Amino acid sequence: MTEQRSSQWYAGGDRNAYIHRAWMRRGLPDDAFDGRPHIAIANTASDLTPCNAHLDTVMESVKAGVFAAGGIPLNLPVVSLGETQVRPTAMLWRNMAAMATEEMLRANPIDGVVLLGGCDKTIPALLMAAASVDLPAIVVPGGPMKTGTFRGVPLGCGTDVWRLSEEVRAGTLSEAAFLQSESSMISSAGHCNTMGTASTMALVAEALGTVIPGLAGTPAVDARLLEYSHETGRLIVDLVAQQRRPSTFLTAGSFRNAIVALAAIGGSTNAVVHLLAIAGRLGIDLTLDDFDAIGAGVPLLVNLQPAGRFLMDDFHRAGGLLSVLREVRDLLDPTALTVTGRPLVDHLDDARIWDPEVITARETPLIPDAGIAVLRGNLAPGGAIIKPAAASPHLLQHRGRAVVFDSIEDLHARIDDPDLEVDADSVLVLRGCGPKGYPGMPEVANLPLPKKLLEQGVRDMVRVCDGRMSGTAYGTVVLHVTPEAAAGGALALVEDGDWIVLDVPGRRLTLDLEQEELNRRAPNQATLDGFAKPERGWERLYVDHVLGADTGADLDFLRGSGGDRVSRDSH
Ligand code: FES
Ligand code: MG
Repeated sequence: MTEQRSSQWYAGGDRNAYIHRAWMRRGLPDDAFDGRPHIAIANTASDLTPCNAHLDTVMESVKAGVFAAGGIPLNLPVVSLGETQVRPTAMLWRNMAAMATEEMLRANPIDGVVLLGGCDKTIPALLMAAASVDLPAIVVPGGPMKTGTFRGVPLGCGTDVWRLSEEVRAGTLSEAAFLQSESSMISSAGHCNTMGTASTMALVAEALGTVIPGLAGTPAVDARLLEYSHETGRLIVDLVAQQRRPSTFLTAGSFRNAIVALAAIGGSTNAVVHLLAIAGRLGIDLTLDDFDAIGAGVPLLVNLQPAGRFLMDDFHRAGGLLSVLREVRDLLDPTALTVTGRPLVDHLDDARIWDPEVITARETPLIPDAGIAVLRGNLAPGGAIIKPAAASPHLLQHRGRAVVFDSIEDLHARIDDPDLEVDADSVLVLRGCGPKGYPGMPEVANLPLPKKLLEQGVRDMVRVCDGRMSGTAYGTVVLHVTPEAAAGGALALVEDGDWIVLDVPGRRLTLDLEQEELNRRAPNQATLDGFAKPERGWERLYVDHVLGADTGADLDFLRGSGGDRVSRDSH
């Protein structure tokens, strides 16, 4: 057996080893320090991350599995991010959570780690951390909640909040009925039940190979989640013995599989920044254009909200991720391995589609080409993205006049103004919402439509923004415009009435202006005033070092791996 990393704390008879052992004993058996692996359970359970609050129960099952396999399990609460609670946006803290987790894994006597996540940013942050510390690691996604119903109709978390609130604004639903639906929206432990970012990142983590195949998508309240958790606890001990670290099996092929899965499930656009950031930690050369190239021709096979009809418990019942991947097996990298030590494609043979209304066969796709489109042009020289599957087909090629908002506050103040010069063909532009500008790149790109147009029956318009969009949202929304306005992007130069041309088939996003005119323009003062200028703390560090959305919005000094080197002793 190779010597454990933790033995550098615990082995031997000197004073320091004595200290490290003595304070840890507290009920651990005497042989706990005989060279067996010490496994951290990086646990994002928190009452303020309600989607992850049940992870302490999951942690107990992981612990039992680790003990059963001869390891020592150690609960390690880490920075947690509740998507609905944290302001200004959980994304501002993703890199902080990743950095704190990486550092605590490295600083402690840890040989391997089980990563417990759920709510949107938690799995990405944990995977970024695991990639950078490069210890053997397995993810247990906490699973989606069971579906709540209101007036007999199933509610999709997020998606139906947007839908119902638009109905109130359009005058087709009373405010009282809207508020009544509130207590039905969240009906159990677990994360959002739509194909939002949490569901997407759980499934994408499995496609990457970092989850036991078949686990992701298991509902939070399903007993099988605990069974898988126990199995994960046993498997991590084996991973440590095999020294199967992220750097030994995550390859460009793993990311190919993740991108194919992302398209076939109709997953959240947020997966783009998260996968780019994780790849950046591993030194894998993944680019924005890979999402377009690999996703091209991948069919949408999953009929889930926000793009479709069903919810995550339906998806699990219908066969789950493996049944989807089996349909697109020829598009997957056959060599990309999983935490089991076997290729992902080896786990697909027994998968079946049990409900073709929820998961459809390759021959009958919901959309033949579901990949994320990457747009370029003078308005987004670094790239922008759109999810055609969530957009209105009639708007995918569109030319319209810009109606510009300098900040989210400006938007809220004017969007419903009856005198706002806007019609259904206008292009709504919201800027100052990128990583640096807000800061943190919030999910505001699916800006609400003007009330007067909603009342006329308009349900979608072209929108352009340097921010992100909630994975539970839909619409013809151009996101992640890079460079962002606060980094000197052309988005800061757009004026009301300018013509903007969106051409998704041609992959173009252009401001119909001569370059000379663009060169002459200076950013609007109101735009500049809206950018964040933090003085201190994490926000300051973040704004000074965050990279663009086109590379995953990580901090410049966090890309790459620091490895699991053991620091000098503390005494
Ligand atoms: Fe936590 Fe949606 S708010 S997953
Ligand atoms: Mg979200």
